[in-house]
Parts: sequence; structure tokens; C-alpha cells
Amino acid sequence: MLLTAPVLFNSCSNDDDNGGDDNNNNNIGITVDLTSSEYAALKTVGGFAYKGDIIIIRSSDAVYIALSKLCTHSSCTVTYNSSTQEIPCPCHGSKFTKEGAVVNGPATSPLKKYDVKQNGNILTIS
Ligand code: FES
Repeated sequence: MLLTAPVLFNSCSNDDDNGGDDNNNNNIGITVDLTSSEYAALKTVGGFAYKGDIIIIRSSDAVYIALSKLCTHSSCTVTYNSSTQEIPCPCHGSKFTKEGAVVNGPATSPLKKYDVKQNGNILTIS
């Protein structure tokens, strides 16, 4: 019996990359499939949805905004009011702009904002 298998197969350390052609390590973002019924609200300008600790707002036809959904006062989950284009917190009255800046306290710090990239029906938030 001959054991002639070359050791060449052992050289790859990217074991969790099944595709092989995607060596970019920037894929740490959260993805949102806009065709999913879970995100149906994002089909309408002014709609919003949550993914994990993030609130995603569709602010215009081609603009999506992603912010932390956790109020910086005491971590209640914020919502979005499309008519005022503000992000109110239901717990103690804080309000934020859709960019995350504080409008009304008691919160004093802005909501963390994330980068959103759209590719077809997929949003990548990082
Ligand atoms: S937790 Fe949002 S205002 Fe207090």
C-alpha cells in the first residue's frame, strides 16, 4: 500500500470559507433580505423594522438608515415616527433625529449609527 496523498491539501487555513473566491474579511456585516416578509415595512418610505439590536429605517426610495434600537438613556427600544421623522423612545420621552442625534432628553448621547450598503434586495449593515 502506498500513501501518496500530497500534503498540499493542508495548506488552507480559511476553513469556514466554503466559496473559496471570497477572501475579503469585511463580511462582518448583518444582512437584511428586503424580499423577506419580516422586512415588509421597509418596502414603504417611512417604514422601519428591527434586526437584532438595530432599527432600520427607510427614509427615502434609495436611503436606508440603521441605528442602535437601544435608547442611550436606559436602553428601551426606540421606534420611528415617519410624520415627524424622529425616533421617539416610549420610556421617558427622549427623541432622536433619524440620524441618531438627541433632540430631547433625558438621553444625552446619540444613537449609534451603522453603515448601510444596498445591493439589489440585500442590505448589508456594518
Ligand atoms: S430609556 Fe429612552 S428615554 Fe429613558
